[in-house]
Amino acid sequence: MIEVRAIEKVYRGGGGLLSQRAVKALRGVSLTLKDGEAISLIGESGCGKTTLGRIIAGLETYSQGELVFDGTPLSQVPPGDRPQWFHRVQLVQQDPYGALNPARTLGNALVDPLKLQAKHLGKDATWTRERARELLNLVGLDPEATLYKYPHNLSGGQRQRFVVARALTVDPKVLVADEAVSMIDVSLRLGILSLLSDLRVRLGISVIFITHDVAAARYVARDGVICVIYRGEIVEYGRTDDIIRSPVHPYTQALLSAMPVLRGLEKPGPDRFIPSQDLDTQAQDEAGCLFRSRCRFATERCGREHPNLVALDGGERLHACFYPQARDVVPVPVG
Ligand SMILES: Nc1ncnc2c1ncn2[C@@H]1O[C@H](COP(=O)(O)OP(=O)(O)O)[C@@H](O)[C@H]1O
Ligand SMILES: [Mg+2]
Repeated sequence: MIEVRAIEKVYRGGGGLLSQRAVKALRGVSLTLKDGEAISLIGESGCGKTTLGRIIAGLETYSQGELVFDGTPLSQVPPGDRPQWFHRVQLVQQDPYGALNPARTLGNALVDPLKLQAKHLGKDATWTRERARELLNLVGLDPEATLYKYPHNLSGGQRQRFVVARALTVDPKVLVADEAVSMIDVSLRLGILSLLSDLRVRLGISVIFITHDVAAARYVARDGVICVIYRGEIVEYGRTDDIIRSPVHPYTQALLSAMPVLRGLEKPGPDRFIPSQDLDTQAQDEAGCLFRSRCRFATERCGREHPNLVALDGGERLHACFYPQARDVVPVPVG
């Protein structure tokens, strides 16, 4: 089980090479992911999704809070043991081509980490070869047609599958898929999304699926949870069906309004999606709700007070809005 406890992340020198400005990428994010569970993190670009994923995978440090795996906080793990400790979490990135060395065969790219694993488990070279084939089969690639090829010989979808196979070499308990299908042809996306779901069911692996695409988030976490992030804060959290059926935070409602097919509309109307905004131009005043300047329901209270994440009707659904309400999903007018 993974617990993220009140994690904050501040980047120094955000906003360009010469800038000394601090960027708050995460502001007290907490969540729990049980073994075999799927969670989708959604929110527009710059809200901190990648930062959170990288922190959970051990590729980024945090400024405050604690990351806890199976009851053990990271702060209690000796630095020398941390690489091994983080093996349980593997990150599958957006650009599978960038993740692979173009000059090496895919066989070598797979067998190298497997050799380390074999050593760790006390297995021999036969095990390594068989395991490579097994993993390729698992992700839907033909071993014989793949092992002697180079990354450029594969299609984008095949490369993404290969990167998943490579992530599986260390027997992870969690896959973090960060915009894993964004660069893949639309027609191939569903295959990758169902691969992630299959692996979760067949291997009992948890999946943290990071995306700005609500439909994909819903698909991968259809029996799990959705966590909506806005400017480094969780603003809504709950079972996927509940969030999709009756979002209560105006930001979630705005995000869902961009999902016309799901909402039964033929095509998106004008202004159906809140336009992205330049985070740099946002007001420095952070006393109130971070979303208020874009929210059509904001009141004077929203400018004064910060809404914390609280339970909706005492249940497991959480939201950070003073006026949580199921509303017809409507576009948010932005001034
Ligand atoms: N290495 C970095 N240095 C400085 N700022 C960063 C760095 N990485 C991300 N940021 C900033 O942190 C915020 C969150 O970024 P990120 O986690 O990549 O968001 P997302 O994945 O949701 O698009 C953004 O404002 C981004 O500019
Ligand atoms: Mg990102």
